[in-house]
Amino acid sequence: MLRSLFLAAAGSARLERLVESAPGSEEVIRRFVGGGGVEEALRTTRGLADDGLTITLDHLGEDTGTLERAQAVRDEYVTLLRRLRESGLTPAAEVSVKLSALGQRIDEKAAYENVRAICAAAAEAGTMVTLDAEDHTTTDATLETLLELRRDFPSTGAVLQAYLRRTEGDCRELATAGSRVRLCKGAYAEPESVAFQSSLDVDKSYVRCLNILMSGEGYPMIATHDPRLIAIAEDRARWFDRSTGEYEFQLLLGVRPEEQARLAAGGQAVRVYLPYGRQWYGYLMRRLAERPANVAFFARAVSSR
Ligand code: FDA
Repeated sequence: MLRSLFLAAAGSARLERLVESAPGSEEVIRRFVGGGGVEEALRTTRGLADDGLTITLDHLGEDTGTLERAQAVRDEYVTLLRRLRESGLTPAAEVSVKLSALGQRIDEKAAYENVRAICAAAAEAGTMVTLDAEDHTTTDATLETLLELRRDFPSTGAVLQAYLRRTEGDCRELATAGSRVRLCKGAYAEPESVAFQSSLDVDKSYVRCLNILMSGEGYPMIATHDPRLIAIAEDRARWFDRSTGEYEFQLLLGVRPEEQARLAAGGQAVRVYLPYGRQWYGYLMRRLAERPANVAFFARAVSSR
């Protein structure tokens, strides 16, 4: 119930203005968002790298409405990648990209050219790109784009969402040598026809997908904060004889930082997903939808003013 409310709120411009102007909201944003611009994001990246973590940076924003704006997003990523290289933060830092921010919904070909330019800039900076997964209407187009990109940029990675009924099949397709796959539960409101609805069914699907990826030949990126799934992944790594460097854990900035430190201290490769930029609203609403405790943190920060 709470989850659907927050996911619905993610699309409301009126609520966005309200939340933005609420005193105390900066504290919440600071916890989950790594800075308003490139230089601030670089400082946050440096802090995480100094703690032995790797990073994937996401320039916040989705569903870009004009080609000019989509090109501006592309240019933002190109600048980010140049600054990461100049700051010596590659290859520890890579970038995550939403195709809808690059114009996927208005002109697929233009979005493809934009993401290609980002992949070229990443290759020049000595690092990689991962394509984020958005709602299920974009999955086919995103996976087709991945296949195209991998011809010239073979390290380009994809995100698969365990809540989608199709994902086991997609895992089978992508569990091949050189393929980087980030497995997450999925963060959008999806209909029963395409997605498992109960958390138990999503978790069971996650484990089936994990088994396929860990037993396959690709590079699994285990994106979850769920202690049970993390323990199962550690078990599968032992079972399938994968050592550090043959898979990694990924967690969001500000979510279970103590677990990020614990995994890294135990010798696991850990990457933190670091969103930055001014368009934090949709991202923040999805984090609030995931966990009532995050809502309490938000309410506390706002009411303490
Ligand atoms: P979930 O939210 O179900 O939490 C399970 C358990 O984890 C909780 O019961 C609790 O025990 C523990 N837990 C979670 N948060 C906690 C907290 N703050 N403090 C303490 N314990 C906590 N989604 C998408 O649709 N497309 C995408 O491209 C991506 N990309 C992505 C990248 C990365 C690196 C991550 C980590 C996640 C994504 N996601 C995503 C989001 C993902 O789909 C999902 O919505 C969130 O990760 C939340 O799901 P969890 O697996 O963490 O479990």
